[in-house]
Amino acid sequence: MAKPTAIQYVCTSCGAHFLRWAGQCADCGEWNTLSETSVVARRDRGAATLIGGRAVPISSVEFHADTIIPTGIKEFDRVLGKGIVAGSVILLGGEPGIGKSTICLQIAARVALAHRVLYVTGEESLNQVRLRSDRLGTLSDQLYVSSETDMLGILNTIDEIKPDLVILDSIQVVAHPEIPSVSGTVNQVRFCASELIKKLKIMGAAGIVVGHITKDGALAGPKVLEHLVDVILYFEGESGFHYRLLRSFKNRYSGTREIGVFEMQEEGLVEVANPSGLFIDETTLKNPGSMVVPVAEGSRIFLVEVQALVVDTGYGMGRRTILGVDTNRANLLIAAVEKIVGLKLSSKDVILNIVGGYKTSEPALDLGVVLAMFSSAQDLPISGRIGVLGEVGLTGEIRPVPQFERRLMELEKLGFDGCIVPQRNITGVVSGKVALVPVESVQDALRRLVSINS
Ligand SMILES: Nc1ncnc2c1ncn2[C@@H]1O[C@H](COP(=O)(O)OP(=O)(O)OP(=O)(O)O)[C@@H](O)[C@H]1O
Ligand SMILES: [Mg+2]
Repeated sequence: MAKPTAIQYVCTSCGAHFLRWAGQCADCGEWNTLSETSVVARRDRGAATLIGGRAVPISSVEFHADTIIPTGIKEFDRVLGKGIVAGSVILLGGEPGIGKSTICLQIAARVALAHRVLYVTGEESLNQVRLRSDRLGTLSDQLYVSSETDMLGILNTIDEIKPDLVILDSIQVVAHPEIPSVSGTVNQVRFCASELIKKLKIMGAAGIVVGHITKDGALAGPKVLEHLVDVILYFEGESGFHYRLLRSFKNRYSGTREIGVFEMQEEGLVEVANPSGLFIDETTLKNPGSMVVPVAEGSRIFLVEVQALVVDTGYGMGRRTILGVDTNRANLLIAAVEKIVGLKLSSKDVILNIVGGYKTSEPALDLGVVLAMFSSAQDLPISGRIGVLGEVGLTGEIRPVPQFERRLMELEKLGFDGCIVPQRNITGVVSGKVALVPVESVQDALRRLVSINS
């Protein structure tokens, strides 16, 4: 084992290095994020290059058109663009028990139909993996499994098996013997990840690395890990709700707007091809505080039900509990409602939620949030099947939204008769069965909500 030469402190949030410990990171301002690490003298690794470092004209660089490996799981491939790019490394994060190992095993089995795959688990025994594999129906001779936490051993297994795809579940449980700290520490996570990535890039193999997330929902480990990988995926969902969303937060090869939808069933994660109505609860639509908004996610439109509960606070200051809606946008909308509508919310508890654990920061949701708060505060439900659409500006103006007609088509498909829409979206004759209620400002929208009910 190489001798540590110096102690450094690394911020687990931003990756900044310091010679002394401090309670707050001087770079990103986060508290209690500095973690002690040992710097190991490793001359041989400093200048590692993947292709020898020689500069060549870009037109003479060899490339292969078939370097994308489709997994055959359409919802997964949709999020990635077309599939897994050979030589790329994907970081998959998610809460405990959300289904990371399940989806990895399913992907491994599908890819193993045409390629050699190595699935390394440091969290489960081979017996457990076999039991799960039997349940999921993912047995294959091209799928190699290994239960190992020693990174050096894993690198040797990769050399031996020569897989096209390596899955490591998870990066927080493996440790490299050259690093004198326990698994899960900043030093170990960073070193193990960079060793694995280096090996995969040289071999031209792809990798999926599972990562734990912290209680704040961020990927555990140094920020530098996020820069090392090519793609970052998050698995989201609500406990007690069967649907799982796969989102991409970074993708070096494709856009990050598409989301994948799965349902957790006995036989594993099943794709949901037509998910637009999953995030509305037909039984609660007529209750005060409930609004339906067609939200655009990549190439698809989802109808989501935003719910608000506005009640007198039992404490001096009203509390805010915001789930699914972007916290900054929600606070902006609460302030706008106070100022423009004169609804006193400082003495009220405001609880916002999107049904089914859906999360979005789409501005088109704004007017739905405002009307849901007003509807709850005034005990005024929206009668009939009417959707809401529009971005709210700081002065209460309603701004137009993109993909307007596609959103209306989705409302029509799910049997909605009308929609409160931004006036500025109506530039010509809009055909369709959904009756439009155009509004220019928040006050205008509230008046229309009252008149719809009278
Ligand atoms: N027999 C079963 N039938 C149906 N669903 C099951 C069954 N066994 C497990 N599950 C589901 O699989 C989930 C666990 O999935 P998985 O182990 O893939 O999660 P994970 O994200 O890898 O968790 P961890 O972070 O603990 O490794 C459980 O929460 C449960 O919903
Ligand atoms: Mg797991």
